[in-house]
Amino acid sequence: MHALTLVTSALTLAMSATAFTFVPENLTILAHSESALPKIFDISASQTIPESDASWYSTSYVRSQTNGHQYFIVSHTIPVLPDHGSGFYRSSILDVTNPTVDGAYWQNVTIAPTPSGYNNGSFNITYPGGVYAFESLSEDSVAVLHTKQIDPSLSFDITFQSSSPLILNGGLGGLAAGITNGKMPNISTEWSMPAGVTWGSFSWNGTNHEIDGANSFTWYDRQWGGDAPKNWTWFGLHVGPPGDEAKSTKMSFWAIDQANSSVPRTQFGTIRKADGIQMVVPATFSPSDDIWTSPTTGYEYPQQYSVTWPDGSTMEVASARQDQELSGPILGSSGYEGYGTVSGKFLGETITGFGVIEVTHFTAPP
Ligand SMILES: *[C@@H]1O[C@H](CO)[C@@H](O)[C@H](O)[C@H]1NC(C)=O
Ligand SMILES: *[C@@H]1O[C@H](CO)[C@@H](O)[C@H](O)[C@H]1NC(C)=O
Ligand SMILES: *[C@@H]1O[C@H](CO)[C@@H](O)[C@H](O)[C@H]1NC(C)=O
Ligand SMILES: *[C@@H]1O[C@H](CO)[C@@H](O)[C@H](O)[C@H]1NC(C)=O
Ligand SMILES: *[C@@H]1O[C@H](CO)[C@@H](O)[C@H](O)[C@H]1NC(C)=O
Ligand SMILES: *[C@@H]1O[C@H](CO)[C@@H](O)[C@H](O)[C@H]1NC(C)=O
Ligand SMILES: *[C@@H]1O[C@H](CO)[C@@H](O)[C@H](O)[C@H]1NC(C)=O
Ligand SMILES: *[C@@H]1O[C@H](CO)[C@@H](O)[C@H](O)[C@H]1NC(C)=O
Repeated sequence: MHALTLVTSALTLAMSATAFTFVPENLTILAHSESALPKIFDISASQTIPESDASWYSTSYVRSQTNGHQYFIVSHTIPVLPDHGSGFYRSSILDVTNPTVDGAYWQNVTIAPTPSGYNNGSFNITYPGGVYAFESLSEDSVAVLHTKQIDPSLSFDITFQSSSPLILNGGLGGLAAGITNGKMPNISTEWSMPAGVTWGSFSWNGTNHEIDGANSFTWYDRQWGGDAPKNWTWFGLHVGPPGDEAKSTKMSFWAIDQANSSVPRTQFGTIRKADGIQMVVPATFSPSDDIWTSPTTGYEYPQQYSVTWPDGSTMEVASARQDQELSGPILGSSGYEGYGTVSGKFLGETITGFGVIEVTHFTAPP
């Protein structure tokens, strides 16, 4: 018993000692050779495609100049949910410096009618009264992006540059999420801008925080189209050898299960290295038995995952706090968006890092 306690506290110490610096990339979205890659859409035009189920999403990894803590802030809107006369906006914050204490996490999902004039010509999704917005501050709809929320618990005003070379998920910027047997799948299109220069402020728990731009960044993710599977797990990760402070290998990892359980799981990572090399790598994804069940929605969320690459090397992804669920009242509005850490190996190289664990179910909980 005593030995076990010792082991546990040693592990806890090791965990809390794993601090990462948040380093932005300061290039352009088409830096390196991405403009030469065979993508199937125009990045600027894609920002205003107003399809049902289209998603605008950011995770900001920021350091507060005010108290020196690091925070993880999620901002996400789907203005038109299929089969609903509405969509949602949702947000969360985690104090990454002290993630497990009471009150270190807050989230909200608001179901709201689609804003009028939504994406009418330029990229601007502003809900009535300006209570929440995702918009572009540049004419190309991409170079400078802005998300804000005005709320008594959490307000934020975050601007970021698309200063990080993009990831074209699946190689082209598309994947089949839902698959109906016997028909060609509709492609879900997705590109990611993993580490843009970020500035602004947020107000939470009674404190106004200024963002330290040199030690903060935002991952922006744009996804639209396609059909819903049964459920998926997605990781947006920043990894690198222990000495790579910027964690400059960017990884978008998908594991997707279909309602038809005879269809094998889709599981692969799209990886973008610092030098611009991009690769699509199959993997085997294994959630652990360490599961947190949401008392609000009933959904189950594993707290740890292994990902094994084709060469047999394995990395572990672990949530930093159990209850990081955005809990919404209608199907498709809830999901796990948890900050987590990474350790292990990727294609033979020892890596550490951090990122987001997203778990989304498109069917009611068991
Ligand atoms: C929230 O604010 C209270 C009062 O200032 C403080 O005691 C508490 O530690 C804060 N909680 C977090 C998670 O920062
Ligand atoms: C989420 O925020 C909205 C808008 O402020 C509010 O009406 C709603 O009650 C909040 N939901 C929860 C569960 O706190
Ligand atoms: C959208 O833009 C068109 C052309 O500029 C304008 O006629 C229309 O009123 C706008 N719609 C909304 C809802 O703002
Ligand atoms: C977006 O729309 C809102 C409300 O319609 C407006 O206040 C805001 O100025 C617009 N943003 C930009 C960048 O034009
Ligand atoms: C489920 O998938 C299997 C394997 O692809 C296929 O043979 C079967 O017809 C599918 N069932 C349905 C109901 O689509
Ligand atoms: C693709 O989308 C169309 C239009 O929404 C739909 O009719 C079709 O069934 C979808 N395809 C599959 C394979 O689900
Ligand atoms: C990014 O680069 C620009 C000019 O190259 C510079 O002015 C700016 O300070 C840099 N920002 C960061 C956060 O490094
Ligand atoms: C899908 O949900 C089932 C049931 O909760 C779970 O066992 C499985 O790991 C999930 N799959 C993915 C890819 O997240």
